[in-house]
This record gives sequence, C-alpha cells and structure tokens, in this order.
Amino acid sequence: MRSLAALLLLSTAACTTMKADGPRREMIAPVLTTADARDTATYARPEIARVTHVDLDLALDFAAKAVGGTATLYVLAAPGATELVLDDRGLQVSRITDEAGRELPFTVGASTEGKGAPLTIAIGPGAERRRIAIQYTAAPGAEALQWLAPEQTAGKAQPFLFSQGQAILNRTWIPTQDSPGIRQTWRARITAPKPLTVVMSGLKQGEPEDLGDRRAFTYAMDKPVAPYLIAIAAGDIAFRKIGPRTGVWAEPATLDAAAYETADTEKMVEAAERLYGPYRWGRYDMIVLPPSFPYGGMENPTLTFLTPTFIAGDRGLNGLVAHELAHSWSGNLVTNANWADSWLNEGVTSYFENRIIEALYGTHRAQQEAALSFAEMERELQDAGANNPETALHLPDSVAGPDAGLGGVIYDKGAEFMRTVETIVGRPRFDAWLRQWFDNHAFQPATSAMILADMKANLVGNDPALAQRLMLDEWIYQPGLPANAVRPVAAAFAEVDAAAAGYAGSGSIPAAAWSKWTTAERLRFMAEAPKERTATQLAALDQALGLSREGNDEVLFAWLQLALANRYEPAVPVAEQFLTRVGRRKFVEPMFRTLMGEGAWGQAIAKRIYGQTRPLYHAVTRDSVDKVVK
Ligand code: BES
Ligand code: ZN
Repeated sequence: MRSLAALLLLSTAACTTMKADGPRREMIAPVLTTADARDTATYARPEIARVTHVDLDLALDFAAKAVGGTATLYVLAAPGATELVLDDRGLQVSRITDEAGRELPFTVGASTEGKGAPLTIAIGPGAERRRIAIQYTAAPGAEALQWLAPEQTAGKAQPFLFSQGQAILNRTWIPTQDSPGIRQTWRARITAPKPLTVVMSGLKQGEPEDLGDRRAFTYAMDKPVAPYLIAIAAGDIAFRKIGPRTGVWAEPATLDAAAYETADTEKMVEAAERLYGPYRWGRYDMIVLPPSFPYGGMENPTLTFLTPTFIAGDRGLNGLVAHELAHSWSGNLVTNANWADSWLNEGVTSYFENRIIEALYGTHRAQQEAALSFAEMERELQDAGANNPETALHLPDSVAGPDAGLGGVIYDKGAEFMRTVETIVGRPRFDAWLRQWFDNHAFQPATSAMILADMKANLVGNDPALAQRLMLDEWIYQPGLPANAVRPVAAAFAEVDAAAAGYAGSGSIPAAAWSKWTTAERLRFMAEAPKERTATQLAALDQALGLSREGNDEVLFAWLQLALANRYEPAVPVAEQFLTRVGRRKFVEPMFRTLMGEGAWGQAIAKRIYGQTRPLYHAVTRDSVDKVVK
C-alpha cells in the first residue's frame, strides 16, 4: 500500500492543486529520509508536514529597516498530521490562518544561537494539501538582510537592500522550512518606494505595478529550490543586456565596469551547457552589489549576486562568474541535503568553474588557476594537520555545522578530487558520468553516500583494479590528501616561480614582468614571495610594483596582508581605507586576524579601525570579525 507519508517523502513529478484563484501546478521534489541526509540545522519535520511552495507578499520599509507582510505556505501533510514546524529566527509573527480564514494557534520554542527557534503551528486534522497564511515582520536586525545607507552605495543618493540566505540565514526574514533538502517553489510580490527597483532570484512576472509613491514587483520560481536560494536586492539599479539570456544589474555608476567584466557570460553559459547539459533556469543574470556584500558571489538562481571587488578591469577575476554559473548545476540543480556535504556544492562547482575557464580562455589560464587552488589546499591541509577531521570532504558529525568546514578542503580538495578522478578515468568518461549525475538528480538533494554509490555504479562498474586506483572512499571520508592526488602542471607558473625565487634570493624585483602578468600570475608571485620583509624591502616592492595603488582587490589584499604581517606602518592608511570600503569576509576577517596577531601594535590598529567599520559590514562578516577582534 502506498501511504501518504510515502507520498510526502518520495517524489511525484507534478501535482495539480486547487486554490482560491484557480488550479496551480507545482513540482514537488523528494525529501531524503536516510540518516546521512538528516539536516540538524533545521527544526522542520518534513515527514509530518512539509512546505512545497512559498508565496510572499511583502513591503520594504527603508526607514525602519524592516520587511513584513504575509507568507502563504502550501503544505503537504501526512495523514493524521496536526502540526507544521518551521524555522524562525527572530520573526515577529502576529497571526496565522488557514485557507478558511480561521486562526491557527502557534508556539515559538526555545531558541538556539544561529539556528533560531521552532515555530510550531497547530494545523489541526484536515486534508493532505493545506494552505496557511502567516502575517509577520522580520526583526529589524534580520541577519540575512543588509540595509545600506545612501553613503554606502556608489550613487550616494538612494538606500540599498540585499539578502544573503546561505547557509541558514533566510529564516530571519522568511517563515519556512529552511533546509536545503526541503525544496520549494516560490512567488513574491514586493513593494518598494520609488525610484528603487527590486530584483529577485526568480523570473520577473510582468511589469511593476504603480502604487503612487511605491511600486510592486513580482517574481516567481516554478522549479523547486532549496530555500537558501530565495534572494532579494533593491536599490537604484540599472540593467545591461549581455546576450539573449544573460545580463547584468548594477548601480548606474558601476554599470559600465560591471558590463565590461561580465561580457563573456553568455559564452560561459554556452560552454557550461556543452560540458554538462542544458541550463535549466531560463535567464542567467547577475547583480553587482555595493562592496559590503559579504561574499565574492552567491549563486542565487537566475540572478547571481556579485561583489564589486571582482572588477579588475581585465576580466582576470571572472572565474567568479564561472563559479556562480556552475552552481546552476552543482548546488542549485543537485543540492547538498545538509551542510556536512557542502563539498558537493562547492567542490564540484570549483572543478566545473575551472572547466568553463579552460573552455573560454584555454588550458594555460585554467592550469594556473588549478595550481593556485592546489597550493591553497596544501596550505590549508598543512595548517589543519593531517588527521584533522575537518580535512575530510564529508564532515563528520563531530565537526559538521552550517558554517563549518575549511575553504581549502570544501572548495579546493573537492575540486582536486574531481580532477583526480577525471585524470584516472579519462575526460570523456568522466564528463559523461558527471552529466548523468546532474541529469538524474536534477532538482533533488544529494549526499556524499549517494555520489559515492553513483560513481561506483556508473563510473567504476565491475572493475576492481580501477576502484583501487580511484580511492573514492578515502577521498570522501578520510582526512588529508590521498596518495593518488593529481599534481598541478608545474610549467603553469614556471616563469613566475623563477621570478619569485630570484626575488627571494637576490632581492631583484621583476617589475617589467609584473606589468605584463595576469591576475593569477601576480597572485602567485605574492603567494611565493618571502613572508618576512623589512620596511625597506616592502617600500622597494611597493615602489616598483605600485602595490598601494593596486586596483585589483585580490592583489591589493595580498599586498596588505604581507605588509601588515611585517608591521609596515605606511600600509596602515591603505588598509584602513580598504576595510572601510570592502565588506567581503574573505578579505576583512583575515586582515583583522593579521593585525590581531601583531601584538600591541596591530591590536590597537585593529580595534580602532573595527570600531569605525563594524556598522558597515553585513552580519556574516560582522559575526566572523567579532570573534577575532576583541
Ligand atoms: N555559495 C558560495 C557562497 C557561500 C558559501 C555562502 C557558504 C554562504 C555559505 C559561493 O558560490 C562561493 O563559493 N563564493 C566564493 C566565490 C569563489 C570561490 C569564486 C566567494 O564568495 O569567495
Ligand atoms: Zn560556490
């Protein structure tokens, strides 16, 4: 007998439901029930009742820095289910009603740091399909959202808002089951004051409604997505078309530079499709946000969010776009069921990113970027120690968590795993395998155990010798680096490494070569240059390479790290300016860490600067730096 509970958890391709305004089709994705798929970061109990669709009707209030309105949840309930449990971090819920308008009792349980609290709604006995409406306001400090004052934008005239949902921040502004394994379709109608434009991680539905001094924008996502992928931005922004299905949003003052840097995006989508199958999301647009955006990029479906710090003027950092685009397959299509397996999102994506770069710009650049990634992994493994459980791709329970894991492992060791398998089985066979993995798990959650089983079934087959050479289990579950890891092509950086060795030996600065080097080459030089330098040496380096005036923020960051670690006083004002302008955690947190490691000298500087810049950062960056500067 097929129970309703089974229906809840296993997939049905599409169901037709009736609602007040007519029939509606929604895709219902399966929820995994195996122990390895369990998400400890959610309170949801999808086996009892699960959200399948979220309908938001919200108003943005820039004066109060508040967002509120109604969230209507479409729910699939098991027979006998009387409760729906949602994730709630600081939501102010005023009223919850069922489809008949009857008030439903609800309770908010005890709250846990970061995770928030369970919001349990008494849905009472009833039909398998329910619709409930939640009237609420997000807390003023909702951690997903950053409300920027006009001074924090390029235009300086209008405020700005953006959200960051991954990993578990969307529960601060959307009342739903906030787990990557519980996929939901969504629709949103958002009002904002003129002249602001609202964009979201779904397709635009018609033109904005004119409401006098406000406008209403409607977006929808008809494919079930992990709820961390619901995203919003609002500001004085303009759009520039790139190709038939690609384009970029940015503040008018940034739009030309943003368009130049992202000009190859349509070609990247085409290359990605040739590699691993159709792009399934319709449009691929991007928005270049103000510099307080806490990440390099975020793969919000149909609308990647980007830091402006990737604008180097020469497209040398557009691997970021390739990365976020690749998530349209690894991450958004096939999604880690929980955060212990985020290498499935980030590692596979980092590999895919490199393949896109190779397709567009050739093997030389791709090999260089792969070599940088390999070196990053080696540094991370070295720092963490060989037996550190955090160096396994699948994070064991002892260390797992929504924010757990090391970049050099999840991203770089994950990519290195894919590269090693590719090298051993050969590219055609590997590509066919990875493509079928995406096709056969499209719009579904996945775990390490699933990809391992899939590799064994569809890549290794009945070939024990190959199985032995691949060492798949060791790659996924053991710490450290397996013996079969494929080394990067040494020749990729031969010239730069020779120059770095020359500089380390005789102190000769390769100024002429530097001026011709690419971003990857400059970063390699900075990484290979000696770490201990005198003020005289640093001044000579700055003088010869113009590092203090560097326009590429990755290179500037590398310089400031080197300079501050040597207590080089002239770098302090430059660092202060950088930390005031940029809120990207990858730069800000390590720079404060460097300062805090430099005794009373650095600690005084860090505290002074952070005292001024802390209010300028998104909660993601602020929370990380709070742990460093104290
Ligand atoms: N999905 C990540 C960002 C993220 C990860 C947010 C975990 C929250 C929790 C995004 O795709 C990413 O990896 N960004 C990188 C880009 C880089 C690897 C090219 C970043 O922000 O630096
Ligand atoms: Zn990523």
